[in-house]
Amino acid sequence: MPCSQWKTLAFLFLLIFFIEVECSLSIFDKITQLPGQPQVSFQQFSGYVTVDEKKQRALFYYFVEAEIDPASKPLVLWLNGGPGCSSLGVGAFSENGPFKPSGEVLIRNEYSWNREANMLYLETPIGVGFSYSTDSSSYAAVNDKITARDNLAFLHKWFIKFPQYRNRSLFITGESYAGHYVPQLAELMLQFNKKEKLFNLKGITLGNPVLEFTTDFNSRAEFLWSHGLISDSTYKVFTSTCNYSRYVSEYYRGSVSPICSRVMSLVTRETSRFVDKYDVTLDVCITSVLSQSKVLTPHQVRDKIDVCVEDETVSYLNRRDVQKALHSRLVGVNRWLVCSDILDYELLDLEIPTISIVRKLIEAGIPVLVYSGDQDSVIPLTGSRTLVHGLAEELGLNTTVPYRVWFAGMQVGGWTRVYGNILSFATIRGASHEAPFSQPERSLVLFKAFLEGSPLPEAF
Ligand SMILES: *[C@@H]1O[C@H](CO)[C@@H](O)[C@H](O)[C@H]1NC(C)=O
Ligand SMILES: *[C@@H]1O[C@H](CO)[C@@H](O)[C@H](O)[C@H]1NC(C)=O
Ligand SMILES: *[C@@H]1O[C@H](CO)[C@@H](O)[C@H](O)[C@H]1NC(C)=O
Repeated sequence: MPCSQWKTLAFLFLLIFFIEVECSLSIFDKITQLPGQPQVSFQQFSGYVTVDEKKQRALFYYFVEAEIDPASKPLVLWLNGGPGCSSLGVGAFSENGPFKPSGEVLIRNEYSWNREANMLYLETPIGVGFSYSTDSSSYAAVNDKITARDNLAFLHKWFIKFPQYRNRSLFITGESYAGHYVPQLAELMLQFNKKEKLFNLKGITLGNPVLEFTTDFNSRAEFLWSHGLISDSTYKVFTSTCNYSRYVSEYYRGSVSPICSRVMSLVTRETSRFVDKYDVTLDVCITSVLSQSKVLTPHQVRDKIDVCVEDETVSYLNRRDVQKALHSRLVGVNRWLVCSDILDYELLDLEIPTISIVRKLIEAGIPVLVYSGDQDSVIPLTGSRTLVHGLAEELGLNTTVPYRVWFAGMQVGGWTRVYGNILSFATIRGASHEAPFSQPERSLVLFKAFLEGSPLPEAF
């Protein structure tokens, strides 16, 4: 055979090879087994997706297929907030993922969200967890715009690895500062869809989200006061002399006024560092509170909820064998951290209201659920409830489910109200800022109902 024919043959062979690779890129990211993991029937994947042309910036993801019949279940992206905290460490391993680290092993989470959906956890923005840039200047001046753009690029490219999920019903979920990330990403998706209908967006869910910073932050005073964490007189100055949004504004601008400084030290002294502001009724992880202050007191254990799960996650994810199994690398950092210390985020973006973006999403027909762990003093339920109600009025949405309790098991899971069958608010009773962490069963009931578009259980 002449050389040219050999060349053609070789070329065709390579072409076929590349087509094969393109179709099954996800096999490189398949997790064989996580160290200490119990046997499971569903598949797990993790790895990197580069989000810029020069391939300098790579986002790390962890993907857990649904336990039963993944082909019929939606795709759900989960984002933690911070800004700068990890969806892998917090979301997947402490909240709603299939496993929780406990010493050397992983234990099954009975209420994992992959019972209902294919769950995709993304460490974002660049600089969080295992996500990295080879050019450290990428960590400077990161903001909401960059984050949303990278998140969109991530998902776009992730679909190349997982083509079977391309047109799957897609939900974006997240909590806390993800009250910024989620609506901003959803908005970009709708814009992208005008050119090419790629994202089959079916709804968004926001847990204890920052949506409008003054309303959210200034509901803290009343929450602390009504839960007995601050005195009548402190409540008074915290709502008149200097409120919390003013303090935060001053703080991020590097100029806290003497008056705000005085009010905040009063608040801090009365609330005590031995109370978890993210759940005022839950015990704190004593070892972790004390390691920050180096005081010794007896270790305290609580039987139901492992309040030290975050510490367990930090040790687990820093194991070499775990990193190998996850196909992850530490680039430019020595340790995996829950919240990044190299990321320099534009913190004043906190003041951008995202409730107006939520409004646009609803106008575009995207269902929205805002839920609140009702023991959280950081983004209290009262602020979120006010914002959702205000939005419903602005949009002229009538109440379709009046304020009522909902059930999980044979107990009240919380309260809910729905507007125009498209905008929902719900509380999760006894839940923290990270609701699925402290109320896993109730959170799963809420999640399932939202995915199905059905009302929360009215009875049991
Ligand atoms: C995507 O899914 C929708 C239903 O959710 C269907 O109507 C549409 O034809 C699908 N598009 C493609 C390109 O498969
Ligand atoms: C909080 O303080 C700012 C600045 O002093 C003020 O403009 C705002 O009205 C206050 N908000 C509340 C709810 O008290
Ligand atoms: C909401 O309720 C009012 C009063 O009952 C009614 O006039 C209006 O048409 C309703 N709006 C929608 C969107 O259903």
